Amino acid sequence: MEYEKLVTLAVEARGRAIAPYSHFPVGAALQTDHDKIYTGCNVESSSYGLTMCAERVALYKALSEGERNFSAIAVATTLDGFCPPCGACRQVLWDFAKDLTVILVSLTCKTKILKMSDLFPHAFDDGFLIHEKQR
Ligand code: THU
Repeated sequence: MEYEKLVTLAVEARGRAIAPYSHFPVGAALQTDHDKIYTGCNVESSSYGLTMCAERVALYKALSEGERNFSAIAVATTLDGFCPPCGACRQVLWDFAKDLTVILVSLTCKTKILKMSDLFPHAFDDGFLIHEKQR
């Protein structure tokens, strides 16, 4: 499978999840356009609202290393089915990676491949802010 390495790294990252409150481990692996991969897992806080999702951990790690162009993200949970990124992650993935390929990974490593434009239609982004500034 084209995304085998990405899926494997997302599953490995899921194993590093810090999820003592939700017991819902998530792992993500984000691929740059030059095929470098950044991983992330969810990190929960005792002040629940400070929790950070796996997708944003991976994205912020990559951005902070200077990466700006991305091609795909794999997201692994321990569900039998497929769990899509939450709304907050969809917004920032759209902000920084636009129409990324999203590979959802089940407990048994079944995969479902989507595009961000399927998951996040009619998105708000900086295009609206720039338009507003020019008025
Ligand atoms: N979670 C993620 O890591 N990614 C998502 O897109 C959905 C939710 C995490 C946050 C929290 O630690 C746990 O899953 C339950 O919401």
